Amino acid sequence: IKRVTTNTILSMKQQGEKISMLTAYDFSTAKALDEAGTDVLLVGDSAANVFAGYETTLPITLDHMIYHASAVVRGAKRALVLVDLPFGEYQGSADDAFKAAVRMMKESGAHALKLEGGVEILDNIKKIIHAGIPVCGHLGLTPQAINKFGTFGVRAQEEEEAAKLKSDALALQDAGCFAVVLEKIPAALAQEVSQSLRIPTIGIGAGNGCDGQVLVVNDMLGYTKDFKPKFLRRYMNMYSDVVDAAAKYVADVKSGDYPNESEQY
Ligand code: KIV
Ligand code: NA
Repeated sequence: IKRVTTNTILSMKQQGEKISMLTAYDFSTAKALDEAGTDVLLVGDSAANVFAGYETTLPITLDHMIYHASAVVRGAKRALVLVDLPFGEYQGSADDAFKAAVRMMKESGAHALKLEGGVEILDNIKKIIHAGIPVCGHLGLTPQAINKFGTFGVRAQEEEEAAKLKSDALALQDAGCFAVVLEKIPAALAQEVSQSLRIPTIGIGAGNGCDGQVLVVNDMLGYTKDFKPKFLRRYMNMYSDVVDAAAKYVADVKSGDYPNESEQY
């Protein structure tokens, strides 16, 4: 199997082939998503929400992310493994950002890193890219800045924020980013940005004009029971299937039906 690289992702945009990305946080899920042909597995800091149960992505640490990322790397034979640097690890000095990036690459075996933000962190992004580490940008609703935004609502609906997003996207491209995630912005804006960039855009809640799409795997499998934003398409009802399966197991244990003759030594 030929590994998907950042060059593969770039040529997909040039050929007009849409890029598929899903999050993954563990070995078994990574293996299944990889077998299904998912182009990019994102070890998102959304692990803080859907794996660990935190309200925001702020509490997850670099050590936590390295643990998740190394598990996903071991499960992915074909997909490019992209990993979020967590809050606080790259917004300070370029030296600190660089050290966090190097630790992640060395200790997890990831192929590329994602950092939230535009011009504010451009020097830090450049330092990481100059070391040979591919970087994906992330603009729009950047959840690590939730305390600045105050809500998880749609971003860049007003002209000023839209204009900044457009110039940030170009700046990220000029800095050498290989792609940029656009989260929860108007579809028309995402399409305009996608058409103005050479590098691919990967949308989540950003409409059909992006060069690829990403969803949180727990959301698209229906494992996050009460999370039903407009952009989400569910492909399973995993939460209710797990409840049903566990309830059957509990009943089988209580009744003495499990284990039977063929299930014991
Ligand atoms: O952490 C995450 O899951 C993400 C995607 C939603 C883009 O950053
Ligand atoms: Na993230």
